[in-house]
Amino acid sequence: MSLPDKGRSTSELLAEIARLRQDDLPVRGGKVTAYVYDTGRPEVHEAAAGAYFEMLEVNTLDPTAFPSVVEMEKQVVGAVADLLGGGSGIFTSGGTESIMLAVKAARDARPTAGRPRMAVPVTAHPAFHKAAHYLGVVVDAVAVDPVTYRASAEDVEAAVTDDTVLVVASAPSYPQGVIDPVAEIAALAAARGVPCHVDACVGGWLLPWLREAGADVPPFDLSVPGVTSLSCDLHKFGYAPKGASVVLFADPAMRRRAYFASASWPGYTVINATVQSSKSAGPLGGAWATFQALGREGYLELGRNTLAAARALREGIAKIPGLRVLGDPDSALVAFGSDEVDVFVLSDEARRRGWFLQPQLSYAGIPANIHVTVTGVTLHGVEAMLAVIAEAADAARERGPARLPEGLVELIADLDLDALDDAAFGELAASVGVDLTGGSGQPEMAVVNAVLDALPGDRREAILIRFLSVIYS
Ligand SMILES: Cc1ncc(COP(=O)(O)O)c(C=O)c1O
Repeated sequence: MSLPDKGRSTSELLAEIARLRQDDLPVRGGKVTAYVYDTGRPEVHEAAAGAYFEMLEVNTLDPTAFPSVVEMEKQVVGAVADLLGGGSGIFTSGGTESIMLAVKAARDARPTAGRPRMAVPVTAHPAFHKAAHYLGVVVDAVAVDPVTYRASAEDVEAAVTDDTVLVVASAPSYPQGVIDPVAEIAALAAARGVPCHVDACVGGWLLPWLREAGADVPPFDLSVPGVTSLSCDLHKFGYAPKGASVVLFADPAMRRRAYFASASWPGYTVINATVQSSKSAGPLGGAWATFQALGREGYLELGRNTLAAARALREGIAKIPGLRVLGDPDSALVAFGSDEVDVFVLSDEARRRGWFLQPQLSYAGIPANIHVTVTGVTLHGVEAMLAVIAEAADAARERGPARLPEGLVELIADLDLDALDDAAFGELAASVGVDLTGGSGQPEMAVVNAVLDALPGDRREAILIRFLSVIYS
């Protein structure tokens, strides 16, 4: 884009945004089973959008200048603490930032002789790896059970050393939607004097409603002895607009470890509760309004619908020839794999039919699979979703697995990425039929996923970074 010489009208800009969004996945309607969370109640999202807009220009940088921020944040964080076992919290921009702050607090609360370390099950979200990377913490990866996909307390304990500053459990983990044994993991952490973080980013604002709707949900929150912090995203099952999460600390002193202040310059005094400094209060307003617009009753009803849809989906998938649900999901996240059809092709086939089903690469002995996040809106379309999955599975069986040009994986595995600029990388991808220019609304991803799946983890990461660089060049 070049900056226009003269300012343009709002209507012109909105028309252009509509055009830019033509190829986007739809954020409403339930046909996109990851990334977006739809209540199926437009008036709730409208209330959130209105409040977001009202708070848009308010800067949370200085809470003394904008007391509305403090009041709203106390209300939102208070509601989360009420539901999840108490504690003192911080409103953040998302799960990654909540986790980053929990890791920082744990690191700073527990000085170690060597480099600080944390024990992290392989199914935990990469936000822990990111936090470790940014904060100079070493990750000790903990394998999970190959059948249940849960981490065991014994395996977590085996990973704890004198330098461990944090152990992690997920409630649930995203890939297969299963809850780690939080009580056991937290108890062993407490016995070793190590803080324990429960990543309830996806489950924190879901599991209590599922429990109330009749699901068997084990204790997982701050009321569990030994749990010292917990993350809960409101832009997931809180159904708030993006940019909304809460991190809770059992001990207010630990929350202070997450804060940052600086008086080391001649400018205004800096007090930050989050990684970001200046930021819009829009997401806080959106989360506040979503809570108010739905209320307990609204969330419980969404919980009931979600539970019914997740059960229908699990049972339906089990009946589709060649497909199987992975593990025994405890929540509304369902992953399925297949020994007969290429799940990456299945995902592309579903996309051709207007549905986005999220592919997940094989990792740590867990096979490649498809992930579906069931939300409040899924129930009314669950039969249609199952029909598409069955059709896409048939089509994938007929097409056979993604065919990779001979030698491609080896070529990429040995590629000297530093010797290739982004343009050359894009050309290389194009030469094997992969278009990274982003033009198509229906990208065929099976080949890309198959190549990534065949590479070791560190190579996948290097290629993904290059991929990102190319699509933004
Ligand atoms: C369990 C879990 N933790 C953390 C995150 C990271 O959240 P965010 O994308 O908001 O940073 C996610 C996102 O899916 C998640 O599922």
